[in-house]
Amino acid sequence: MANTIKTQVGIIGGGPSGLMLSQLLDLKGIDSVVLERKSRDYVLSRIRAGVLEQGFTDLMREAGVGERMDREGEIHEGVCISDNGVLHRIDLEKLTGGDTVMVYGQTELTRDLYEARDARNGKVIHEAEDVQPHDITTDAPYLTYTKDGEEYRVDCDFIIGADGFHGVSRKSIPESEIREYEKVYPFGWLGILSETKPVHDELIYARSERGFALCSLRSRVLSRYYVQVPLEDTVEDWSDERFWDELKARLPEDVAARLETGPSIEKSIAPLRSFVCEPMRYGNLFLAGDAAHIVPPTGAKGLNSAASDIYYLYHAMVAYYAEGDASGLDSYSETALRRVWKAQRFSWWMTSMLHQFPNEDPFDQRLQEIELEYFLSSEAARTSLAENYVGLPF
Ligand code: FAD
Ligand code: DHB
Repeated sequence: MANTIKTQVGIIGGGPSGLMLSQLLDLKGIDSVVLERKSRDYVLSRIRAGVLEQGFTDLMREAGVGERMDREGEIHEGVCISDNGVLHRIDLEKLTGGDTVMVYGQTELTRDLYEARDARNGKVIHEAEDVQPHDITTDAPYLTYTKDGEEYRVDCDFIIGADGFHGVSRKSIPESEIREYEKVYPFGWLGILSETKPVHDELIYARSERGFALCSLRSRVLSRYYVQVPLEDTVEDWSDERFWDELKARLPEDVAARLETGPSIEKSIAPLRSFVCEPMRYGNLFLAGDAAHIVPPTGAKGLNSAASDIYYLYHAMVAYYAEGDASGLDSYSETALRRVWKAQRFSWWMTSMLHQFPNEDPFDQRLQEIELEYFLSSEAARTSLAENYVGLPF
């Protein structure tokens, strides 16, 4: 093919996983090409995660993109849980012996990564259509794609599938070679972004008889709020006024009383799902991030689980190219999955404890209530939440 590009690592997907890996590899002299289906503006318009574990922030710094994050991000030493109107604070820093989380939006860190790739002349190809991996079980895999009506081919040593849950990478592995584990929850999260002062300095995860709610933030003048909604609901069902009324009804009275409301600048509904694909490698194709696993957002583990995959892959690739040592690549799937499943457990547990499940039988309902009561009364249980929330070690 006339338009053939040669590289070492072909990366499908220009979300946080793909961009972070290409940046880290570049700093070690390893060449990559990132193929992204959407435009840059589209990728940057997606409002997603907001809470970063220390492992993630360390990786941002290692990638040379931590400067704005360290300037503008907010360190949170604690997080709040409200149970039917009563607010409880979990002191993350004290319970973990010094660990905290950083509030810095996915949109911002993606922008930082794009700028860093530009500054190093990184090859990030947007609006790459019909990306397809080929010969993934051979030593000479390649990618094909179309752009502006022309066909291209990328020859590489390895392909990284960092193309999210709906991407092409996982689907290109024969069904007989993988096992998928999935749990779909009977509700979604309606989220809004508003240019209002956050109602509280720290995040509030709220359990109430009307359903779950979350108060989060992006900065001192930008708030992010969510409420649990039935799966059938659409954004059109939720005027701003209805959203604010429902949020207030799910929060402790004094918190609701000081909630600043205003027009939403973004509003969307996301279904909740737990999903894991095993193994995360097939031949010379490696899956990373949402392409391999999804968590329900309670507990903020989605983006952070992507970061640990990238950490393992990055170190494995550096060992391979610098020393010819393939052991990290060979153990990647097993190593990454061990941490992925722990994040799955934690996200499932937080989700189960804090949401209202339609048609739940009374016994399960009582168990849920006592789970939260026990959790709030036991320092051991709060320590367990804290160590998971700040992030288990990579
Ligand atoms: P993605 O960010 O999905 O990036 C994959 C990229 O691949 C995308 O840019 C996509 O356009 C591209 N792509 C897809 N298919 C192709 C293809 N065939 N060819 C080329 N490119 C392709 N996590 C949290 O922790 N908290 C949250 O509040 C939260 N909210 C979320 C809300 C939504 C609606 C979604 C979908 C996810 C949310 N997450 C949240 C999860 C978090 O955003 C993800 O875990 C994170 O984005 C994973 O990064 P990634 O790079 O692996 O995947
Ligand atoms: C945010 C999202 C989450 O899922 C979460 O657990 C915490 C914060 C957010 O978008 O700010």
